[in-house]
Amino acid sequence: MRFVPVRRRTVWLWLLTAIVLGALSWVVWQKRQMSMDDAALSPQARLGHAVFHDRSLSASGQQSCATCHVEEHGHASARGIEHGGTQMQATGERNTPSLRYLWRNSSFHFDEEGKPNGGFFWDGRADTLAAQAAEPFLNPAEMANADKASVVAKLSRASYAREFERVYGAHIWQQPEQAFAAMTQALASYQTEDPAFHRFDSLFDQVAQGKASFNPAQERGWALFKDPEKGNCAACHTAEPAANGSPPLFTDNSYDNLGVPLPVHLRNQGQRHDNDAGLCAQVHVRERADAKNYCGAFKVPSLRNVALRRAFFHNASLQQLRDVVAFYATRDTDPQRWYGVNKALNDVKPAYRANVNRDEAPYGQKPGEQPRLSEQDIDDLVAFLHTLTDADLAARAVSLAGSTAVANAAVHAAAPVAIPKVVTSR
Ligand code: HEC
Ligand code: HEC
Repeated sequence: MRFVPVRRRTVWLWLLTAIVLGALSWVVWQKRQMSMDDAALSPQARLGHAVFHDRSLSASGQQSCATCHVEEHGHASARGIEHGGTQMQATGERNTPSLRYLWRNSSFHFDEEGKPNGGFFWDGRADTLAAQAAEPFLNPAEMANADKASVVAKLSRASYAREFERVYGAHIWQQPEQAFAAMTQALASYQTEDPAFHRFDSLFDQVAQGKASFNPAQERGWALFKDPEKGNCAACHTAEPAANGSPPLFTDNSYDNLGVPLPVHLRNQGQRHDNDAGLCAQVHVRERADAKNYCGAFKVPSLRNVALRRAFFHNASLQQLRDVVAFYATRDTDPQRWYGVNKALNDVKPAYRANVNRDEAPYGQKPGEQPRLSEQDIDDLVAFLHTLTDADLAARAVSLAGSTAVANAAVHAAAPVAIPKVVTSR
């Protein structure tokens, strides 16, 4: 009887020790997880990460950068055209692009050959990632805040506000203009520093490093992609490593007018629609004497992670990757398929149709002629484009692409692949 309390005390002691030890190792594990995630990130970039995911910075309270630029879709949208606004009542006009592989893009300029290059957005109007980041906060169809000061007021109440003060100074809230600029700079640092935005670990990269190989369909697609007489895709979607040896980005950051079709829901007769003028309307171009030559041109997007996009082209007119490749192949040989009867180039104002690229492969044929790319070639190009999916997203491509075969091929390089037949929008 006398020993019972002692034993009870021992049991309690053990229990307490176990709880303390458990709590301690949980804290250590948490810290380790955090430092693993954010190891390489500067304090600014860590703040950028917080801002990127903070919905309280939108007028609706329902939207952050991450709502439209979804990580699982390669930081592009889950549906293409997005909603936004004070009550989420507004609809955007352009497709939501991927934010991956943008970090080395330059500001907008005319290159040595006098051709437009660089810049952010489909029309290149923003010079830097920070300048770009200022726009969504105030865009009435996006995060829809009234002004910079109201964004900063919300920022000063965020859970990470103390950290913001630590990095940018305790007086930062008294200077809304500077606070807003610091916030956009933090967003730029996040997109620049976080390796998630430029992993270079797709099957394509593994093949380039000799760690994996393409299956026959992917190999044929790769050849067509580079062949100047066939796909000629690499003429704009650069497939060679950069001068400094960094792997190809699948864009040369140039601009082109592809004459992409009007989205189906806008094709009805009598429907009012202002064709998007793109490059010629943006601030660096619109005052130029030759501005109208650039109407209807849009930036060449990177094709990395393109298989994860839900909608394609600046106007999100096509929803299937196979249709995009088929459009390149048959825009000129079978225009009715894309535009309907007597409505060729229906998303380019008649005055600007001369700007549409007609000379280069894969274009340049007449209606009824044999396309440069056969149905088999189109399938092979699609198989190749699937190899550009980053490794963190390759597994997810299973459900998105609706084809286990394609995703398996991306994960297990050598496995043979069956190409999915996708219904076209004919
Ligand atoms: C309502 C959806 C939406 C929200 C919210 C949003 N974006 Fe975007 N984003 C878009 C769309 C649409 C475009 C293309 C617009 C255009 O080209 O005019 C775009 C373009 C971009 C680009 C340029 C990409 C390129 O290829 O040049 C970057 C960078 C970007 N967004 C980052 C952000 C950041 C950072 C935030 C948060 C501050 C954000 N976005 C919030 C929809 C959104
Ligand atoms: C002359 C330059 C040029 C050539 C050649 C070219 N592209 Fe493009 N590509 C572009 C431009 C510009 C866009 C964006 C056009 C727009 O949205 O109006 C684009 C868009 C795309 C898109 C949509 C990406 C997205 O995020 O919406 C895909 C996919 C694509 N191209 C694949 C290809 C393939 C495959 C080939 C070869 C068969 C090819 N491209 C040849 C310039 C080119």
